[in-house]
Amino acid sequence: MCGIVGFTGSENAAPIILGGLEKLEYRGYDSAGIAVLNEGKINITKVTGRIAVLNEKTENGALLPGTAAIGHTRWATHGAPTDTNAHPHKSNNGKFAVVHNGIIENYLELKSSLTEKGYYFESETDTEVVVHLLEMYYNGDIKKCVRKVASKLKGSYALGILCTDEPGKIFATKLSSPLIIGIGAGENYFASDVTALVNHTQNVIYLEDGEYAEISPYEIKTFDCTGAEIKKAPSRIDWDIQAAEKGGYEHFMLKEIMEQPRAVKSAITPRIKDEKIVLEDLNLDLSKVRNILITACGSAYYAGCAGKYTIEKLCRIPVQVELASELRYSDPIIDESTLLIVLSQSGETADTIAAMKECSKRGAKTLAIVNVVGSTIAKLADFILYTHAGPEIAVATTKGYTTQLTLLYLFAVYAANNLGKITQDEYKNLINELASIPKLLQNTIDMNSKIGNTAKRYFNTDSMFFIGRNTDYALALEGALKMKEISYIHAESYAAGELKHGTIALISEGTPVIALLCNEDITEKTMSNILEVKSRGARVLAVCFNDNKKITMLANDIISVPRFNSIFSPILEIVPLQLLAYYVAKLNGCDIDKPKNLAKSVTVE
Ligand code: AGP
Repeated sequence: MCGIVGFTGSENAAPIILGGLEKLEYRGYDSAGIAVLNEGKINITKVTGRIAVLNEKTENGALLPGTAAIGHTRWATHGAPTDTNAHPHKSNNGKFAVVHNGIIENYLELKSSLTEKGYYFESETDTEVVVHLLEMYYNGDIKKCVRKVASKLKGSYALGILCTDEPGKIFATKLSSPLIIGIGAGENYFASDVTALVNHTQNVIYLEDGEYAEISPYEIKTFDCTGAEIKKAPSRIDWDIQAAEKGGYEHFMLKEIMEQPRAVKSAITPRIKDEKIVLEDLNLDLSKVRNILITACGSAYYAGCAGKYTIEKLCRIPVQVELASELRYSDPIIDESTLLIVLSQSGETADTIAAMKECSKRGAKTLAIVNVVGSTIAKLADFILYTHAGPEIAVATTKGYTTQLTLLYLFAVYAANNLGKITQDEYKNLINELASIPKLLQNTIDMNSKIGNTAKRYFNTDSMFFIGRNTDYALALEGALKMKEISYIHAESYAAGELKHGTIALISEGTPVIALLCNEDITEKTMSNILEVKSRGARVLAVCFNDNKKITMLANDIISVPRFNSIFSPILEIVPLQLLAYYVAKLNGCDIDKPKNLAKSVTVE
């Protein structure tokens, strides 16, 4: 996903922009660039490849003097990753430069009209229409010009702008894509997310859709969608740069796996008070909810699949889980009795936002379970539960997934009690079990400190199967995705009972099968599936409770987790699967924190 950064102050801007772009690398990108305003001229350097190439080409910014600048990391959507297609883009008259995160959906019609008017385009990007529109509409009043251009754009954008008539100033406006302003001392910033700002300031302003900002070293002016100046209260980021660094780990992903006990504790502790579950902000009459619809993408969707079983088991309310990219176009049957639960680490996933808007339009109440404070999904929701996982930098989510699952478990127990579906003793026991998860997570990590050795028997393969039933099947979905997205092994998840309906044809000598057996009610059934695949030559790695002795006769390898209530056990089982994927990917020599083709948050359709 693209990232934008802007700076204006008294010192040279380029090194600060380059440092900010490095903090956005985790979002995934294929090219980068920087524009600096100096002595009435905009100088641009842009490259294909990593920020390191940009550092080299600009001698760490020394070749680009000037105190106001904008920068960009590009994840290509329109046009291949090339120097020309990289941002920033400059107007034909050299007066404007622009960086953009999002998609201008009507760029083709704008491009053809601008071309007819004599503007020439250098790139294949949608973004370049913005900089030519700025030139066309500019008559000396930059605010009027930016608002006029914004009125012509359809789609999503976070725009950063430089203008040679406005020395020392940077400009920003947004629609759907995130944009945050950083408040410094004698210097100010903007960025796509706080990670690029937090080593300069923890005081930020979240721009809302349609708002516009004029930023100079000592002043930040914000305007609403009508052009009227507004005062926006600053927020304080509740974590510091150390949280966004590797902390001595080789990869962010390993650090974030190890952080899960703390992250889950941060999600749980503030919500268990006097032996009760307190869900801030959820002032919703649950007795009026007839059905629950969970929507998300990727791992967040798989967290929903796991949470579904727990909510249904305890609340006896039907729960559907739908992929956001499907739900948004499925003409869903939704009304006021539907509670939509939206799961998202970033809070900026385009498909999830679109599905949420569609369901809200049809009357659903929306509960957002997100990690990034002030994100678009958080702002759109009727009710918000933050996961408090802290910054998640690795593209492959780990603590994002487990804290989402934690919130779903908290919600399930809270709702079951609220609806009178469980006794007070059951309520108390379930709360105690939830409160024990952080410690059990740490025990799970400690139990699996040798999983790197197990990985040596599973890395050198083209395919891998993850099988399970019920909650274990939901977990198999996430286990397979982790393996796919960082080790590039074609891993498939299957309901264990489905193998005999076709997939078992793919099992041959040595095929790795990861069998999940932590759902007590149906473990025996999955053990028969293990026998089925073993008899066709499969190599079976079983994930089971540490006191399951029967499995030792069946599986080639075993991963243990502490015995736990099956409705919550996926939160433990996923940890060794994250570690397995991590070590397999390492053995495969993959770029673990920034897997090929992937972005940390997919803010485009
Ligand atoms: C998971 O490891 C991936 N990074 C991806 O599937 C991710 O879960 C998905 O894109 C949803 O992102 P979100 O939670 O930020 O909405």
